[in-house]
Amino acid sequence: MATKNMYTFFLRRLHSITGVLPIGAFLAEHFFTNSFAMFGPEVYNSKVEFFMGLPYILMIEIALIWIPILFHGVYGFYIIYTGDASAFRYRFARNWMYVLQRVTGIIAFLFICYHVYATRISGLVTGQHVSFELVQRSLQNPAILAFYILGIVSASYHLGNGLFGFFITWGITIGEKTQKVASVFCVLVSAGLTVFGLAALSYFV
Ligand code: HEM
Repeated sequence: MATKNMYTFFLRRLHSITGVLPIGAFLAEHFFTNSFAMFGPEVYNSKVEFFMGLPYILMIEIALIWIPILFHGVYGFYIIYTGDASAFRYRFARNWMYVLQRVTGIIAFLFICYHVYATRISGLVTGQHVSFELVQRSLQNPAILAFYILGIVSASYHLGNGLFGFFITWGITIGEKTQKVASVFCVLVSAGLTVFGLAALSYFV
């Protein structure tokens, strides 16, 4: 029993930390590098070629991005499925934050699967890297554009709201006062990332 509890504790902590590092950091970096689109197709495509030409790029992606996201996503589904009742210990707003954290996690999972397939896996199969023109063409489909907007908003909310839980999980915000400050910070992170991500998207449209 004690071993099982320790194992669950370890997995929960790993799930928590992977949400911030590397996944959260990668999300912000991804919005930033895609903002190169503001300088037009030539600059954007040259940056893609630069990143794709880095030594060991596939191994780096697998180790630092794909495995952590897969772990966080799969264990996230397990957390949702086993759904502890902690949500209903909290005030009304917290219950909603709890539910939205799960809903946005599921949307982010579906979006990431589509996005990774369309921009990376299909390129590995055809041997052609993603380009400004390819993204621009796919966004001409209103359904895909809407899915991108939903994916960006969901991932941004999920990270900002997740940080609030993260600070509590790791004992960084204990008192009510620090949690109030943290909640303002987390709203700013969610809002800032949403604007940043949608701005990057707009350069392709
Ligand atoms: C954009 C990618 C993602 C980022 C940046 C991210 C980030 C985070 C962060 C920072 C937390 C807070 C950890 C804590 O409470 O200590 C979290 C929690 C959570 N994430 Fe993610 N996540 C992502 C994708 C996903 C996916 C695909 C799922 C799958 C459903 C998911 C499910 C969850 C769940 C269920 C929680 C709440 C855990 C709890 O209440 O204990 N996340 N996420």
